[in-house]
Amino acid sequence: MNHQSFHPGKIWYDTDSVHINAHGGGILSHNGIYYWFGEHKTAGEGGNTAFVGIRCYSSKDLYNWKNEGVALAAVDDTDSEIVKGSVMERPKVIYNDSTKKFVMWFHLELKGQGYSAARTGVAVSENVTGPYAYLGSHRPNKKDWPVHADNEMKTTKFDNDLKWWTPEWREAVEKGLFVKRDFEVGQMSRDMTLFVDNDGTAYHIHSSEENLTLHISELNSEYTGFTGKWKRILPGGHNEAPAMFKRRGKYYLIASGCTGWKPNAARSFVAESVWGPWKTLGNPCVGEDAELTFHSQSTFVLPIQEKEDAYIFMADRWRPDNPINGRYVWLPIAFDGEKPVISWKDEWDLSVFDEK
Ligand code: GAL
Repeated sequence: MNHQSFHPGKIWYDTDSVHINAHGGGILSHNGIYYWFGEHKTAGEGGNTAFVGIRCYSSKDLYNWKNEGVALAAVDDTDSEIVKGSVMERPKVIYNDSTKKFVMWFHLELKGQGYSAARTGVAVSENVTGPYAYLGSHRPNKKDWPVHADNEMKTTKFDNDLKWWTPEWREAVEKGLFVKRDFEVGQMSRDMTLFVDNDGTAYHIHSSEENLTLHISELNSEYTGFTGKWKRILPGGHNEAPAMFKRRGKYYLIASGCTGWKPNAARSFVAESVWGPWKTLGNPCVGEDAELTFHSQSTFVLPIQEKEDAYIFMADRWRPDNPINGRYVWLPIAFDGEKPVISWKDEWDLSVFDEK
């Protein structure tokens, strides 16, 4: 089977004629080849937990994907954090030019603890397709205040008595209620992505503070840990599923709201610096079902290497009852001035980017 176009939402067969199994994924472009890393889901209830691990596919043309096997495997060892039955979500891989290593980060939840651990796991490999060696997991920025933290955040105590969702609670959240609570143990990290800037600095962007606030954290020069420099983005904005990209010197974020596996409206933001301030640009999706992101949730934005101003919005159409049947929704991003615009297409190919 030779694909020559994208069919968002339809079964997408790999070169072995098997539906691609790389959910919540991201793509690394390396030496002219694209590598797609994603969650290997299994059939039936429970298929959202990791029984296999993170799978990798490769492609030269973005339409036809070859299964490269399991890049980071969930293991049988019950002492391991990545034991089968843990949650390994939203993997992203970046390449470190100085160490010549590929670095994978992913959202990790410990087996049997629901989503309460809120950790980010890291693994490295000398080969892009793996196997990746698991290094461990973090609650980011333990005992580090965010840049621009004011004295009020640093000196007032965490107030556990505030009733959730009241105006007082909202105000306290914006001022860093949960940052204070988690200061000693490290900040929560659930939905996440990575972004490498032109100067080689890498950032880990994650939903934190009970999914209420995004954090952007600088990674160290090896990309395997945090420097302690971090900032809160849109406090209290309730943004999940972040995807970051750069266009014409500006930084963009596309995210979703927080409704679990159910779709909601996407949001987009732009900034002159990764450190903000971030300006809200609203829902990038237009047309029918735009308020449900066409029944999907963002996972990554892929800049196409050989084309100018060409970005693909990648999203997941989750099937929580039978996760292996989840679908991929890839759509081209157009721009109206600085605002990203995404419209539905039943079928499309990369020539849409030549038509501008
Ligand atoms: C979503 C999140 C997914 C997964 C899910 C679990 O909001 O984006 O990656 O964590 O919740 O309910």
